[in-house]
Amino acid sequence: MRMKILAVLSISLLALVSCNQAAKEPQTEKTLETPKNVVVENILSRRSIRVYKPEQVAQAQLDTIIQCGINAPSALNKQSWEVRVIQNPELLAQINAKFVENAKGKSLPGSASKAQQEGFSVFHGAPTLIIVAKDKNNGASEVDCGLFAQNILLSAESMNIGTCVIGSVASVFNKPDAKDLLKAINLPDTHEVIFGISVGYKNESPEAKNRDANKVQYIK
Ligand SMILES: Cc1cc2nc3c(=O)[nH]c(=O)nc-3n(C[C@H](O)[C@H](O)[C@H](O)COP(=O)(O)O)c2cc1C
Repeated sequence: MRMKILAVLSISLLALVSCNQAAKEPQTEKTLETPKNVVVENILSRRSIRVYKPEQVAQAQLDTIIQCGINAPSALNKQSWEVRVIQNPELLAQINAKFVENAKGKSLPGSASKAQQEGFSVFHGAPTLIIVAKDKNNGASEVDCGLFAQNILLSAESMNIGTCVIGSVASVFNKPDAKDLLKAINLPDTHEVIFGISVGYKNESPEAKNRDANKVQYIK
């Protein structure tokens, strides 16, 4: 009986040792394959969305997106941005109308070139427009705002919510006649609108645009 127990024990020990050895085997090309990385996939699948469904984004999702935005890094943790989440249809229409009025007679690049067409929306008809303003007295504020924005874009993408940075809306708020609009969004004099972000449920799946890897050089 004692012999039997000893034999079983030594067989189990052997199995354990060989198991450990297997784990230490050098990795083959197959075992080195990168595991599915949801963060990388999310970054690579995000696209600017310019066609939205009319329904409003769920408040809980928007709360999470904003939470991600304000958790972006900022110089000296000053969180130098001012952010307004606009969902009021009259105010959205006013912002668009002002853009269209300012665009009259101008040849603007990109989608703004269609500003005089029926049904044009500078923020692509998204039901939510996030306005991002930088601190005029903080040299790092534009970087802070950019990082804030990227967190918004990527967290939204992770929930399959569409976004598009809208640089064109800055002009609407930065004209001398924009006092009423600035008052409507409660923006202090210390801050200046630098872009908007359209947010809404996607109604298109655009292809990725070209990226130029040559802009990046390794110096070793
Ligand atoms: C600072 C900035 C301003 C932009 N302004 C606009 C804009 O006014 N209207 C628009 O439709 N897209 C705008 N975009 C979106 C870019 O056109 C878009 O990010 C770029 O073409 C790459 O496409 P992707 O986002 O789908 O990868 C802007 C992007 C950035 C970063």
